[in-house]
Amino acid sequence: MDLDRLFDNNVAWAQRKTQEDPTYFVRMAEQQSPQYLWLGCSDSRVTANDVLGLDPGAVFVQRNIANIAHSNDMNLLAVLEFAIDILKVRHLIVCGHYGCGGIRRALGEDRSALVDHWLQPVVTLYRRHRAVFDAIADDNARIDRMCELNVEMQVRRIASIPTVENAWARGQELHLHGWIYGMHDGLLRDLGPTVTSMEERDALPPIDDRVARPVEPDTGVRRHAIDAFTKLLDEKGG
Ligand code: CO
Repeated sequence: MDLDRLFDNNVAWAQRKTQEDPTYFVRMAEQQSPQYLWLGCSDSRVTANDVLGLDPGAVFVQRNIANIAHSNDMNLLAVLEFAIDILKVRHLIVCGHYGCGGIRRALGEDRSALVDHWLQPVVTLYRRHRAVFDAIADDNARIDRMCELNVEMQVRRIASIPTVENAWARGQELHLHGWIYGMHDGLLRDLGPTVTSMEERDALPPIDDRVARPVEPDTGVRRHAIDAFTKLLDEKGG
């Protein structure tokens, strides 16, 4: 039966890990000291550790539908407090993904489920700029554009949560990042904004100003790595 297979997989994985590194689980049991907090989508295809190429212990993870930061979400607030105040993560990454089903829903007409309450910030942004979004003829391109803007919006929202403000006020190093993941190629793009202080946050243009402007994903070295990978794909005819 299916669930038996999961336990079999688990045993095989634990054995493999132990063979590769006999003290692996001894170290894992001691303490976690992740440097990164990941706020991502619940989508089963976007798992933080896999995408980042990191082992267990390296990234603290919070996921929900469409990677949204609600300032009254007890779950998020508790995760933020623990990650920032206790674990002292240095980087908080909001990572969306192209083709997000939550974003697709927010841009549709159906409002019959609880998830529509959850998606309300995205729906509101869509309503305010409906002319801009609806001018994008291709459905997938329109959704992808909102996926990008949603990331930018959530970075702004997190930057205003008191837990984050307090960390900055006491001089703690904390960088917020806005990234997006492409399931079609397995690659992360740095969308921005990157925010490291209240001054930087306050200098950001409002999200509404960002709607009509093209996003500028990827920076420097990251772009270089993506170019190399894309070239490899092209060479392989894929
Ligand atoms: Co999603």
